Amino acid sequence: MSNAFHDKVAVVTGGSAGIGFATAHEIAGAGGTVYITGRDRDRLSAAASRIPGDVVGVPADSSSAEDLGRLFTQVRQRSGRLDVLVTNAAAIGTAPLGEITREIVTTTFDVNVTGTIMTVQQALPLLADGGAVVLTGSMAAHKASRGRSVYAASKAAVRALARTWALELTPRGIRVNVVSPGPTDTPAIARLAGDAEQRGAFFAKMGEGTPMTRAGTAEEVAAVIAFVASDAASHVNGADYQVDGGYGQV
Ligand SMILES: NC(=O)c1ccc[n+]([C@@H]2O[C@H](COP(=O)([O-])OP(=O)(O)OC[C@H]3O[C@@H](n4cnc5c(N)ncnc54)[C@H](OP(=O)(O)O)[C@@H]3O)[C@@H](O)[C@H]2O)c1
Repeated sequence: MSNAFHDKVAVVTGGSAGIGFATAHEIAGAGGTVYITGRDRDRLSAAASRIPGDVVGVPADSSSAEDLGRLFTQVRQRSGRLDVLVTNAAAIGTAPLGEITREIVTTTFDVNVTGTIMTVQQALPLLADGGAVVLTGSMAAHKASRGRSVYAASKAAVRALARTWALELTPRGIRVNVVSPGPTDTPAIARLAGDAEQRGAFFAKMGEGTPMTRAGTAEEVAAVIAFVASDAASHVNGADYQVDGGYGQV
């Protein structure tokens, strides 16, 4: 992958932490210019400065059409085009049936579904023919886990969007794929663990549910996102790569 993104311009939403950060790192390390987004400005600029290469942090909430407009205006003005779009920002609403509030549904769908649609749609005029779109899905769309019905439904929608968009964008040579992580050690999931001391035990428990008996790392997911986004995957379209240590496969 060393030069796979030479001369390419990428946007990774939710790129200041976890899988998005690791993806931006991977693409920048392979020669790409990368724009990363996130809502927390300090975390975003710290993340951008931690990644070697041409990496620009643009504060943007994926549920805000206005923020997305500013993001793509900046990409157009600075880079003139976009080759790779990774929609990775997500809200992980959790509540068992009986406790699902309208707010959980709205927040989750605003970011994961409407946000994904608007991000891809607003990027479209800038996306170069032959470009690649990678939507971060989730194994939650394929395998149930308690309390995650709303989140799972939003990620099932992401998978469905990719199928149709792959068909619609084929005339322009733009490939659209999903990468679905299984349990992965990231700040989002670590927050569910409680304090730092409980983190090891939490991830060990999470890993027990996979044949590989461990959670994945953000870098393991990022490597697959980068592959799918690269020309090495030039005949991969409309697919869903599941990076889950076998969690949903066996
Ligand atoms: N970790 C897992 O086990 C796992 C499993 C399956 C799927 N996934 C998927 O993988 C993706 C990344 O998850 P992660 O675990 O890496 O999460 P993470 O560690 O919490 O990182 C999330 C990133 O997204 C940003 N973000 C959150 N909400 C945003 C919004 N509304 N607009 C723009 N940026 C936003 C965060 O920054 P700010 O908070 O500053 O905005 C941060 O940079 C998500 O799509 C998630 O659903 C993760």
